[in-house]
Amino acid sequence: MSHTDYKNARPSLAYRLLIGAGCMALLSGCAGAHLPDAASSDGQLYAARCGACHSPAHPKRHKAASWPRMVELMEMRMAERGHPPLTDRERETILGYLSRNGR
Ligand code: HEC
Repeated sequence: MSHTDYKNARPSLAYRLLIGAGCMALLSGCAGAHLPDAASSDGQLYAARCGACHSPAHPKRHKAASWPRMVELMEMRMAERGHPPLTDRERETILGYLSRNGR
């Protein structure tokens, strides 16, 4: 095939719209940009560890008091799916981040 076939190739408009709509539809957004303190190291740890399977939930999604149980459940999901477990330090940081920014 000719090497010029794809010289004008670029992501189609439909594809880009699909991705954009997906971000909005997920409510929780893309890549954690909507998260409080997204650029802080705590925010980045949260987005990385808690955004590995689904987009990271906003801390206000649950009451501060409910997060520890939720995180425990997510640690089971991590184990089931072969994700590395949270270290004590990561769990502490994530729970601190969630309760600081939660409701
Ligand atoms: C290994 C994959 C995985 C990781 C990593 C993960 N989750 Fe989940 N999460 C799931 C699955 C699967 C569900 C669907 C409900 C269920 O099966 O428990 C879910 C559901 C949720 C829900 C409930 C739905 C909702 O939007 O209210 C919240 C909140 C949540 N996760 C938060 C977190 C937090 C916080 C972390 C980080 C500590 C995290 N998740 C990390 C797999 C994961």
